[in-house]
Amino acid sequence: MDQKLQQLRNSTIKEISGIKSRVDLNRLYLKIFGSSGEFTLLLKSIPELPKEVRPKIGKLANQVKKELEQAILIKGRDLEKGRLTEKMDVTFPAVLPPLGHLHIVTKAIEEIVLIFEKIGFNNRHYREIEWDWYAFESLNMPKNHPARDDFETFYIDEPPSPSFGQMVLSPHTSSGQVREMEALKSRPPVRMINIAKCYRPNWDLTHTPMFHQFEGLVVDKGINITHLKGTLDYFAREFFGSERKTRLRPFHFQFTEPSFEVDINCGICLGKGKLENGENCRFCKSGWLELGGAGMVHPEVLKAGKINSQDYTGFAFGWGIERTYMMKSGTRLDDIRLLYGNDIRFLEQF
Ligand code: DAH
Repeated sequence: MDQKLQQLRNSTIKEISGIKSRVDLNRLYLKIFGSSGEFTLLLKSIPELPKEVRPKIGKLANQVKKELEQAILIKGRDLEKGRLTEKMDVTFPAVLPPLGHLHIVTKAIEEIVLIFEKIGFNNRHYREIEWDWYAFESLNMPKNHPARDDFETFYIDEPPSPSFGQMVLSPHTSSGQVREMEALKSRPPVRMINIAKCYRPNWDLTHTPMFHQFEGLVVDKGINITHLKGTLDYFAREFFGSERKTRLRPFHFQFTEPSFEVDINCGICLGKGKLENGENCRFCKSGWLELGGAGMVHPEVLKAGKINSQDYTGFAFGWGIERTYMMKSGTRLDDIRLLYGNDIRFLEQF
């Protein structure tokens, strides 16, 4: 027993001197003093020794324990000191703290505003909580229009105003059209770009209940359809680049006559409707994506804005920002909901 203790002391001291990290030192401590550690087991066997040698062995065991614990303690301090006095290269570039940036939708809004400001549009903002009158009624939309259903529009649970009707979460930026005419005291020229949050109860690959639209409205003497087409072409060139195409399809909106839908070829399949592996493009299905609507302002809308439709004509268009941004080249985003998921791994890529 005497010898075993001496051996344990010598081999452990040797082992301590070769140790290079705190983790290894802790491991060694457990190997010796843990519940089934080498020293612990030796100590447990003392009661089995003849009575007369027990006091002597007990004393030696205490001494070995003290020595080893002391050696481990000193080694621990040395390792700590070494860590603190490690050589430091002060010229080494520091690790930069992570920097945030604007959300891609905010960036798209800034870009779109700049494009339209260049050709004389005024950047205007109207209400997110709007009266039925501005959102629907003044835009020539009949009471039974499907957009007025409560599964298409969020209604505010408040008593309606006798003159403006129910309060709604503005479902489109077209709500700003008559507001802008009023703000200009019904005196054209009107050249508005209105970018705002819009709300509709939809949730799928291409819709979120909150989204952004931008609305263009121009009213002046002698405005005709070529001004609309020229403006859309200018925007497409500036924002998407020359490789993307748009097309106008005859359509129907209550607040424009004639009306069109503006499409752009899909940025993922580039208008083919199929992916390279032959599968149907699940983003667009047909090669074209709908950006939004456009048309010549309906005389009834001018009337609601107290503008004489004999003297003045106008055009308007309204598109979704999220879709518009995704259709820009290089943005292969096939689920619009990612934009608002707040997953930093997604957002920091842009
Ligand atoms: N407000 C329409 C929508 O949200 C889009 C729209 C269509 C806006 C035609 C317009 C327009 O200004 O002329 O679907």
